[in-house]
Amino acid sequence: MAVTTQTGSILNAVYGPMELSDEEFYALTDRSLSPRPSGILADRLAGLGIGAGHRLLDVGCRDGAHTLALARRFGCAALGIDPVAERIAEAQAAIADAGLGERVRAVVGWIEAIPADDASIDFLWCRDMLNHVAELSIGLAECHRVLGPGGRMLVYQTFSTELMEPKEAASIYGTMGIVPQNQSDAFFEETARAVGFAIAEKDAVTSEWREFWEEDGSRKTSAQLLRIARMRRNRAELIPLLGETHYNVEIADCLWGVYQMIGSSARRSMYWRNDDHRAHLAYSLPGPARSAVDCLCRFYGLGVGSARHFSDAPPLRRRIGKCRQRSLVQRCTGRGSESTYLSLQLFP
Ligand SMILES: C[S@@+](CC[C@H](N)C(=O)[O-])C[C@H]1O[C@@H](n2cnc3c(N)ncnc32)[C@H](O)[C@@H]1O
Repeated sequence: MAVTTQTGSILNAVYGPMELSDEEFYALTDRSLSPRPSGILADRLAGLGIGAGHRLLDVGCRDGAHTLALARRFGCAALGIDPVAERIAEAQAAIADAGLGERVRAVVGWIEAIPADDASIDFLWCRDMLNHVAELSIGLAECHRVLGPGGRMLVYQTFSTELMEPKEAASIYGTMGIVPQNQSDAFFEETARAVGFAIAEKDAVTSEWREFWEEDGSRKTSAQLLRIARMRRNRAELIPLLGETHYNVEIADCLWGVYQMIGSSARRSMYWRNDDHRAHLAYSLPGPARSAVDCLCRFYGLGVGSARHFSDAPPLRRRIGKCRQRSLVQRCTGRGSESTYLSLQLFP
């Protein structure tokens, strides 16, 4: 059978000789590109000027490992929050063991309702958790609220790239509770700006940490690749032991690492500034109380706009009172449910 020109050129590209010998090719492609380790994140925080006397919030702190390490390194006060109570109990035990209970705390909490006062935080550490936040604008507005003017937020996040296959993405996101929309860096940045952050710096970490772990011998991603293969081949034995959910989560977690390594998703760290001299006010109230809010705000010389659903917030009068004499711009989308969340931007 005759070989078409196109097929012939493909075969030539695949099996024909290269300009370089195999040895030259491998020497070129298998050399280290000096990947940076994960420690660059804490180093960046150091570069932003954190020190003793500052207040740090670690949002999505899991077992508080980073909260403690940062508090130790910088001598700052630190608060870690995470919704998973068992992890917070581990964090509290670690803090007690370290004898740092005076200045480090961990509590159950959600980014959507951060248990901290307005402008009570100087540095916010947000590592690898925003992909789980369904209402990103609410979570980021909360971050903006607790950060004082001049506050810094260090964000580390994974975004999908054009190499991510939609079917793979749907499967892994569904299994791991990842909000697909948050996988877009454009959406992410737009949301950050909309709540008042200035994006001061972006650093494409991409596969560097993963390369580093291969080169330092810990070989995390190779191990994950092998684990996927073995788990898939040994599904029948593992499912009864792990349960289907945990089995799927473990495989998805390994795939997540492999995707980071091969560029289907890319890691990025960035730091955002709250330097627009605005503060956020957030509170909840039953729908009918909206008119009371309007009255109070008018009394204190503040304007009022629309609202969005939320729950759980400090007393309204105290919060509005704190903002008297300031003009106000309110940004919201509104859902008309029982409880209403108002996010107000206040200009001094
Ligand atoms: C991938 S882990 C990252 C943990 C830690 N920040 C780190 O970098 O090792 C994601 C964490 O975010 C937490 N999380 C998920 N949704 C959250 C939310 N809405 N508010 C606060 N934390 C959340 C999870 O419970 C989990 O501990």
